Amino acid sequence: MDFDDLIDRRNTFSSKWDKMEPIYGVPADGGLPMWVADMDFRAPPVVLKRMQQITDHGILAYANNDDEYTAAIQWWMKTRHGWEIDPSWIFTTTGLVNGVAMCLDTFTAPGDGVVLFTPVYHAFAKAIRAAGREVVECPMVNNDNRYEMDFAAYDAMMTGSETALILCSPHNPGGRVWTKEELQGVADFCKRHNLLLISDEIHHDLVYPGHTHIPMPLVDASINDRLVMLTAPSKTFNVAGLHTGNVIIADDALRARFAARMAALSLSGNSVGMFVAASAYSPQGAEWVDALMLYLDGNRKLFDAGIADIPGLKSMPLESTFLSWVDFSGTGMDRAEFTRRVEQEAKIAANHGTSFGTGGEMFLRFNFGTQRARIEDAITRLRAAFADLQ
Ligand SMILES: Cc1ncc(COP(=O)(O)O)c(C=O)c1O
Repeated sequence: MDFDDLIDRRNTFSSKWDKMEPIYGVPADGGLPMWVADMDFRAPPVVLKRMQQITDHGILAYANNDDEYTAAIQWWMKTRHGWEIDPSWIFTTTGLVNGVAMCLDTFTAPGDGVVLFTPVYHAFAKAIRAAGREVVECPMVNNDNRYEMDFAAYDAMMTGSETALILCSPHNPGGRVWTKEELQGVADFCKRHNLLLISDEIHHDLVYPGHTHIPMPLVDASINDRLVMLTAPSKTFNVAGLHTGNVIIADDALRARFAARMAALSLSGNSVGMFVAASAYSPQGAEWVDALMLYLDGNRKLFDAGIADIPGLKSMPLESTFLSWVDFSGTGMDRAEFTRRVEQEAKIAANHGTSFGTGGEMFLRFNFGTQRARIEDAITRLRAAFADLQ
């Protein structure tokens, strides 16, 4: 577990490293990619060992490993999140965005409104629009650099054409770990407006000390008949390339509809991704995540301290995730200018806040899931790019 090892990911078909130049104009040589939400760390040793066993054996044929995979998820949910599930509730999708898209396809109809609390992970809106549904933005309140929900305002915005809500819990990009009261508010809102609740909890393991993630079913069991839970090993163990998402549905009627849609499309899991997930959701995987979180916490503090030192820049205090949401409104610059400085002067690729929906206009999102030396480098670059504000 050497998180400090400066692994060179260039020219490996890495989206984060090898697409930074074509997309952001940040040079492959000397640029620093802080956009795509994967980490620059090797996967846990227990995962790499399993991959090695598979390649040593040399057989990549049909596999029947559902039981191993679902038992591992069941164990993880119980030991790490206090949530008891039945293995029969679990479906495997091609990553979690695919899980979201499958929910939209199964449970909503073209033209339906799908509610998002914005700003929020950009792929949700893309999936909603691509499916011919309508994005219904409910902007969050930025209360003293912390996102909160305003249900009274959202109640007034509902038109009756909304049929689902996608919740990001914990929240990307604001890093909030929603409290029990806030989650109860979401559950009540869904009941009031008869919405299916698609709860994307992919960041559930990446929570910092002092905060506890609560799985949605533990908040209010009475919403099980309108709840679909989504998790994945992608973020927790840095295995997004294996495209394995877990869709968990406790309610019999919802589960039957989802199963029918999966069957109609002949969708089944990628067995290598499922082998990897099974190895990762284990005591050894848990030990790795604990060590990872200590390291990420160090990065978070270093990055936040560096940003706080640059007049005009402000990062949102993160309770979860390795994605820092930085507000540039205090610079007095327009979006084009602060973005130009980050990309062309600091030579850093960071996600544009506009892609996360209303409320993201003056923000950039920086991924600090990388070696600490690169965080120090990032801060030095940003300080120089905004030196005239010192
Ligand atoms: C909230 C959320 N859901 C889903 C994903 C992507 O999941 P996957 O790669 O398994 O499709 C991300 C990636 O950043 C995310 O932040």
